[in-house]
Order: sequence, then structure tokens, then C-alpha cells
Amino acid sequence: MNQRRPDLSDNSRHTAVVGLQWGDEGKGKIVDLLTARHDVIVRYNGGANAGHTVVVGDQRYALHLIPAGILSPGKLCIIANGVVVDPQVLFEEIDSLRSRGIEVGDNLRISDRAHVVMPYHKEHDAALEEVLLHKCGGKNLSIGTTKRGIGPAYADKVHRSTAIRIGDLLNEDRLHRKLSVICTIRTAELAALGVTAPPLDPDELTRVYADYGRRIRPSVIDTVYLLHDCLGDGRRILFEGANACLLDIDHGTYPYVTSSNCSTLGIPAGTGVPGRHLRRVLGTMKAYTSRVGEGPFPTELLNELGDRIRQRGHEYGTTTNRPRRCGWVDLVAVRYSAMICGATGLACMLLDVLSGFEELKLCTGYRMPDGSVTERFVPDAEGLSEVRAVYETMPGWPDELDDPSERKTLPAEARRYLDRIEDFVGVPIEIVSVGPERTQTLEAVS
Ligand code: GDP
Ligand code: IMO
Ligand code: MG
Repeated sequence: MNQRRPDLSDNSRHTAVVGLQWGDEGKGKIVDLLTARHDVIVRYNGGANAGHTVVVGDQRYALHLIPAGILSPGKLCIIANGVVVDPQVLFEEIDSLRSRGIEVGDNLRISDRAHVVMPYHKEHDAALEEVLLHKCGGKNLSIGTTKRGIGPAYADKVHRSTAIRIGDLLNEDRLHRKLSVICTIRTAELAALGVTAPPLDPDELTRVYADYGRRIRPSVIDTVYLLHDCLGDGRRILFEGANACLLDIDHGTYPYVTSSNCSTLGIPAGTGVPGRHLRRVLGTMKAYTSRVGEGPFPTELLNELGDRIRQRGHEYGTTTNRPRRCGWVDLVAVRYSAMICGATGLACMLLDVLSGFEELKLCTGYRMPDGSVTERFVPDAEGLSEVRAVYETMPGWPDELDDPSERKTLPAEARRYLDRIEDFVGVPIEIVSVGPERTQTLEAVS
């Protein structure tokens, strides 16, 4: 019998990077930094709704599907089974990286069990959002999705019979059989959503997606065994979370969430690696809060302070270019996410954006409709929309953070701000980021 080798790896050397707010916390920058100390970088959830930015010198990369580790030569990057892959975006991303001199070949592996985002998923996503925005009796019931087909693709995964997996792209006959049924169903559904387009053509879709299959074939593998082989060989794994804990389908502000488990709880299911390997979880948070799309946001600043944060932080979506909603840091939310994700350390990002504010507010409680105050998060959209943030106020620091070298060289007010975050969340801040570049990072990165 084929025995698995014993697992000799040092668990504490594997790391997960996860967002503790509503996304765009700077995960791309942190993954890029931590890549140097890991061998394998794995995406476990989400799809091209993610936009992870890495700045290297004068180059800026925005990654949607490929792990940010791809920018470092000699690292193995894996798109694991929990991801929904849009081959069109994937190949655009590969071509764009190659055109900029980044190697993408044997260093990228894709699970045969990852699900495929098809064109009709994107059409469905956009059409449903349109109906929910404009055709619900004057009420906006839309989620504000990225329209990348994420929800419909995960819905098909759960439906089972209408799903296409990467492995299906490698078998043209099977793909055609499936698409013949799916196209009939989807054409009717799209028509019901008001889409006036010719019926979906299974022959044409099979031709295009079998072509993608031929191109993708050399990268496709059973990534569960690949990851366990890596563990057995003592290779260090870095799990790159996409989206963020408050967008988690089970633990976020439902229904204003994405369709995957984007907290670290998604790692075991999304990769086949058991949770016991996850001893180190770096929770990434902005020094304030941002959110894209609809949904409650207790600390949102719908005034010139919010505009100032948006301007200073260049808060426009990496994937959709939408202006991000901005507000004060919500420590109730961050502490909840740190608890769900098992954060062992924090990376506090974009601290430089807060320079020049006379005073800063930190939300440390929620006033409930009955007047009581709680320090517990309300992971439900309707409930959260009814709370009022309770703030502590701290003095800001007037000057720009011109590349301080260590945390202790930051202005005293900035240090006190970080201390309060650490104290309230109960997790140490391991990394402080004061600019998008690799060098604009304080604290040891290990
Ligand atoms: P991700 O989705 O979590 O990877 O984050 P995004 O890439 O969508 O958004 C974070 C943005 O902030 C990117 O444009 C980064 O280049 C930028 N960024 C990261 N860290 C810092 C920082 O410390 N200061 C500033 N000013 N920008 C940062
Ligand atoms: P990264 O990895 C910010 C939000 C969308 C929308 C909701 C559902 O860059 O942090 P979806 O298209 O997933 O069905 O949209 O989730 N959203 C994100 N917001 N950053 C992300 O990813 C996001 N991924 C999804 O704006 O509100
Ligand atoms: Mg992003």
C-alpha cells in the first residue's frame, strides 16, 4: 500500500495572511514581503474579485488570481481547490506578467478541482445586480459586487450538476455534454433577469474553453497531494487570503459579503491542508477602515474627513476602480476578525495616511438600539446597520511619516495609537506599514 510520508515540517513556519476588515488592507504587500521566508504561496479562496497590489521600485503590480509570490523568482505558487478561476482573467494576468519580465511557468500550479468562472456567471452577476439596484420598488437591494461572476460560480459549485471544474476543461467531450444542458438552463435564467442576447451556444463555449484547457493543462495538478508533499518535504507554506474576514460568507456582514470563506477558516477546505498546520496567522488591517460596495459600516465618514482619507490613501478599487468608502478604525470589528481568524500577529497598514489629522477616533464599542453598549461585533447586516459607533479620541501627529526606520522612531502620538490598537485587539502588531513600497515597512519580518 502506498504510505504517506510522515509530516516532518515545522508547523510554526507556515503563515496565513488574512484581511481583518472589508478587504484591501494591503495583503498583497505583506504576502510579497513574507514570500522571501516561504517556499510555496497558496491562494485558497475567492477569484478575480481580489486585487492585490505589490509595489517594487517603480513597478506596480495588481494581481487578481495568481498569488503575489509569483513576483519572487524560485517560489512555487498554487491556486488551490477553493478558488474560482476565470481562465480569461488568468491568461490575461499571465501574459501581462510575462510581458513585464516575470516568469510564469512551472512555478504556477492550479487545482483540477478549482471551479471555473464562465462568461454566463459574469453576465448573471451583472444582470442580477442591475435588477436589485433598479427594479425593487425604488429600494436598492444590490450587494455592490465586483461583477466578476464570483457568486454565480460558487452557487454552481453548490448546485453540483451545473458546475464546471478545471478538470472538465481537459476533457472536451465531457465539457460539451455538460455545457449542452447548462446553456439551455442559463439562457432561460438570463432572459428572466432581462438579458436580451442570443441563446448561449454550447459548441462555441466548448471550443473556447477546451482551448483554455489545452493551454492550462501543463499547470493542472491535484494540489492537495502537492501541498502535502510540500509539507512532508519541510517546505514553508504561505497562505494568501483574498477578500477579508468581514466579507466571509459565514462570518461576515451577511448578505453584504462575498461567496467564499475568506477568513482563515477557508484554508482547510480550500486547500486540503488541516488547520493544525496554521500556527502563525498575520491579520492585516488598515490603520482606518475602508469598504467597497454596499453594506453597513458603523465608522464610515460621509464628510470631508472621509474624503481626505480616500484622497491620501488613494482609495479606489484595484479591481473595479470604484471609490472606496472610508472611515475611522473599528476595533470591535478587528477584534472579532482576529478571533475568528486566530490571528497571532497584526500588520497595521497605511498608517502614513493618517498623518496631519488633528485628532483620530477609534471605535471601541457599539451603542445598540436599546441604548446599551457592547464590545461584541454584530455579524449581520441589519443588526450592524442599527448600531452607533462609540469612540475614543486620540491626538494625531502633524507631520508626514517620512520613512521612519523603526516603530520607536515614529511620533509619540502614532506609537500611542498603535499601542491602543494592540491593547484593545489583544494581539501584537508585528508589522507597521507607512507606504506602499517594500522599504516602507517597520518591524522585523520573519
Ligand atoms: P489587498 O487587496 O489587501 O492586497 O490591498 P489592495 O492592493 O487592494 O489595496 C491596498 C493599497 O494600499 C494598494 O494600493 C497598496 O499599494 C497600498 N499600500 C499598502 N500599504 C500601504 C501603506 O502602508 N501606505 C500607503 N500609503 N499605501 C499602502
Ligand atoms: P481583496 O482581496 C474589497 C466585496 C465587493 C462586494 C462584495 C461581494 O482585494 O481585498 P463579489 O464580487 O465578491 O461577489 O462582491 O465583496 N469584495 C471586496 N472588497 N476587496 C476585495 O478583495 C473584495 N472582494 C470582494 O466589493 O461588496
Ligand atoms: Mg484589494
